[in-house]
Amino acid sequence: MFRLLLDKFQWQGTDHIYSLPWMRNRLEYSADPNRVKEYLKGGEFTRSQLTRDMLSRFHLSHNSIVVSDDEHAQFLKRIFHECLPTQERYPEIARKLVDEVFTTGHNRALRLSSSLIPAVYLSLLSNLLGANVLKSLREYIREIDFQPGTRPMHLDGLMYAFGMQLPGFGPMRKIIDLIFFKGDHYTRKIALKLEKMVFEFATPIEGSWYAHLIELKQSGKITRAQFRGELTSILVSSYALSAAMSSMLLCLAARPEYVDKIRHDETMAKHFVNEVLRLFPPFRQFGYEEKGVWEKSGRSKEEVTDFMVSIFGLHRNENVWENPDDFRPQRFATSSSTKGCKFMPFGLGKRSCTGRVYSIRVLVEVLKYVCSEECNLHLTLPEDYEKDYVGLPLGTNGRLVSFPVDDRVYARRESIEKGMAI
Ligand code: HEM
Repeated sequence: MFRLLLDKFQWQGTDHIYSLPWMRNRLEYSADPNRVKEYLKGGEFTRSQLTRDMLSRFHLSHNSIVVSDDEHAQFLKRIFHECLPTQERYPEIARKLVDEVFTTGHNRALRLSSSLIPAVYLSLLSNLLGANVLKSLREYIREIDFQPGTRPMHLDGLMYAFGMQLPGFGPMRKIIDLIFFKGDHYTRKIALKLEKMVFEFATPIEGSWYAHLIELKQSGKITRAQFRGELTSILVSSYALSAAMSSMLLCLAARPEYVDKIRHDETMAKHFVNEVLRLFPPFRQFGYEEKGVWEKSGRSKEEVTDFMVSIFGLHRNENVWENPDDFRPQRFATSSSTKGCKFMPFGLGKRSCTGRVYSIRVLVEVLKYVCSEECNLHLTLPEDYEKDYVGLPLGTNGRLVSFPVDDRVYARRESIEKGMAI
């Protein structure tokens, strides 16, 4: 019951401002695009402490762009964008990724998350970080049992609301973590080990993001901890991209009629990806923070407002989306479909996702390749697959990065032309 209430709160957004006596900050939680627009226009805001706290405590990037201040984030983002692969490279990136996951001559059932996360991680290391990954590291990554994040977001929110992020609660947090979130420790351990291994078993490609990071560290412009933070944040990013890719492939398996449509109309692939990101956004919520002076009991007081956006609620808000629960990629065919803060799987504004362009391009190219004759891949859902009322993969699992609850798929891939496999 309690869980259901929390889910409702988190998924739908409530559009109230909470200012309870025991809460550190005022908290506004919204799934209304007009309110989001108004808020973003309103002036100075930055990534909220709540979001930073969740990211750095739960996940891995203690010192990366994600948790740094605006100025540092802008400085690194500028360099990062210059290192993105050129547009022509994406078909090849996608092809390699698909070939890594779906080997030819196999009929097999697989869990998408466990196959995709290592493949996407390897792909991000080579193509986004820009590293030559040595064989031993490649083999090590292929064998890791990567698990999607384990800590429920709403519990983190509650702990924060009760001030449990404060240092005095450290021991209590540790006890809660040890009892309920053993998986987090496992994820963290993998991250630390991988970060060391990348450093030892991957060499920077000239002009790449990795080469720049090493240079910045050596010249003292970023600290060693920040350098390491960027490496581990690639891991979190690969969770997010894999989650989107899992949902995309499941939606395709559930709707095979789109294979032909995508084969014959390139724009359909883009609409399909948008529709997947609308219905299954890997990050269900994120927040900004605004400092200001508010009246409280007749006195003005400087306070912080956390403004949390429920992306899930926003993307299924029936006031702005027609039949929001239906899977209809065609809705993105009109130019106004993504305008007005109603579609924001990658966030908006100065702290929006750095990997947006890369992720969309890879998703679109993967989808195009998977649907192509040349790839010769047939995806079907297992017969006992649980579907919700519109015949789609069931929901998301409420973690920081949300994967489909059931991500089993049956893949059949006939042999492909010689020379195509990696
Ligand atoms: C489908 C995949 C992905 C989704 C849905 C996604 C979504 C998001 C969202 C919602 C945010 C927060 C935005 C905000 O607060 O306004 C974010 C931030 C960020 N993402 Fe992604 N992301 C994805 C993939 C990636 C990839 C592949 C990278 C690789 C570099 C990446 C790097 C980042 C970084 C560095 C930030 C922090 C930006 C800042 O603090 O200014 N993301 N992402």
